[in-house]
Amino acid sequence: MTQEIFNHDLIQFLHRSPTPFHCVQNMVNSLEEHNFVLLEENEPWSLEPGGRYMTSRGDGSIAAFICGDADIDNATLRIVGAHTDSPCLKIKPEPERVRGGCNQLSVEVYGGALLNPWFDRDLSIAGRVSYRDNQGGVSSVLIDFQRAVAIIPSLAIHLDRDVNSKREINPEKHVVAITGMTGEDDEFSFRDCILEQIEEEYGNIDIDLLLDFDLYLYDTNGPAFVGLADEFLSAARLDNLLSCYTAMRSIESARPGDATCILVCHDHEEVGSVSSSGAQSPFLIDVLRRLFPGAGQLDPGELTRITQRSLMISADNAHAVHPNYADKHDHNHRPVLNGGPVIKFNASQRYATNSETAALFRNLCIETGVPVQAMAMRADMACGSTIGPISSAAIGIPVVDVGIPQWAMHSLRETAGSRDAYYLHRVLQAFYNS
Ligand code: CO
Repeated sequence: MTQEIFNHDLIQFLHRSPTPFHCVQNMVNSLEEHNFVLLEENEPWSLEPGGRYMTSRGDGSIAAFICGDADIDNATLRIVGAHTDSPCLKIKPEPERVRGGCNQLSVEVYGGALLNPWFDRDLSIAGRVSYRDNQGGVSSVLIDFQRAVAIIPSLAIHLDRDVNSKREINPEKHVVAITGMTGEDDEFSFRDCILEQIEEEYGNIDIDLLLDFDLYLYDTNGPAFVGLADEFLSAARLDNLLSCYTAMRSIESARPGDATCILVCHDHEEVGSVSSSGAQSPFLIDVLRRLFPGAGQLDPGELTRITQRSLMISADNAHAVHPNYADKHDHNHRPVLNGGPVIKFNASQRYATNSETAALFRNLCIETGVPVQAMAMRADMACGSTIGPISSAAIGIPVVDVGIPQWAMHSLRETAGSRDAYYLHRVLQAFYNS
């Protein structure tokens, strides 16, 4: 696959994945096209060596794997991990507010979102809706309004003269989306709007009552290449859909030998990973325990033998140096866009990388001719984290934390280099094939 096709598909993937649920659905569709068979976690599995499978949990997490040929005494794992969620605004369960002649939706802030960029954007709504059918059962569907249905206007500078030096954003008061004008006689019901949207997307399905929803605001402005020579890729949710997509393309095109290849993309990383499907859940280990046919249920000793000869690459975007704020980086650790994937180091183990796992990743970069960079925070600044240390602590597997460099992490419009995702793809492909 050329970089051009890879990037073209990346843009489609970003655009069609406004929520983790849509991300997982798109991954299932793409993996199915590459002969991965969807397994349900609540059913028995029968796996064949060389077989390609996937399973999802909670609609927002997914694991795909190719079973290796090796027996238990020689089995190894090549795992790539990423996360499907991004900071955003989540609509509250009873969100309607009517103020100043406007219908509004109140939201909660999901994850560590930069709030400023959410103002003056043409926002849409997407997510999952659960309903009661006419037989009394409960089902869910994904919806995506796709068009701009909400906006959060800025306050005019004339009404806040200090805005450029002292702006403070109170999410409860200021980040309330406006969806329309209040009608004369009809009361604003968000649930009625959802029902109309379901009908538009699915026709007349059997709904007795709308029960609950996980719905999120997102920016309708699609991804774009930016720069006089298209050096940049600008989009929402690059952190971390870019890694999900890149790892997915890598396992799809993998031709592994003896090793078992796994891709795991977790939901809820941006809120701490504690959930039934997040990186702190047993999702990955539950998959590992079912992986080796013939061995039946792996006992803990066998699993330890396997994990201790294996490697996990945790892929999550890194902070590129921002030319207007260059002093926010240590002078010798300033990853640049289009400079290749970044190995993330942190002495306090906020990243799971150590010299041995970093060396293995560096070696893959040498073998594939891909440039590689290193990142450590300034010693006087706190460090972020990701799923790497969590998975490493849960399973005891050696992990290297890497990611492609980007600007404006956790903005609703982030910027990456247009060459880096493909660089990472080449390395992950080599990893799966090694
Ligand atoms: Co991230």
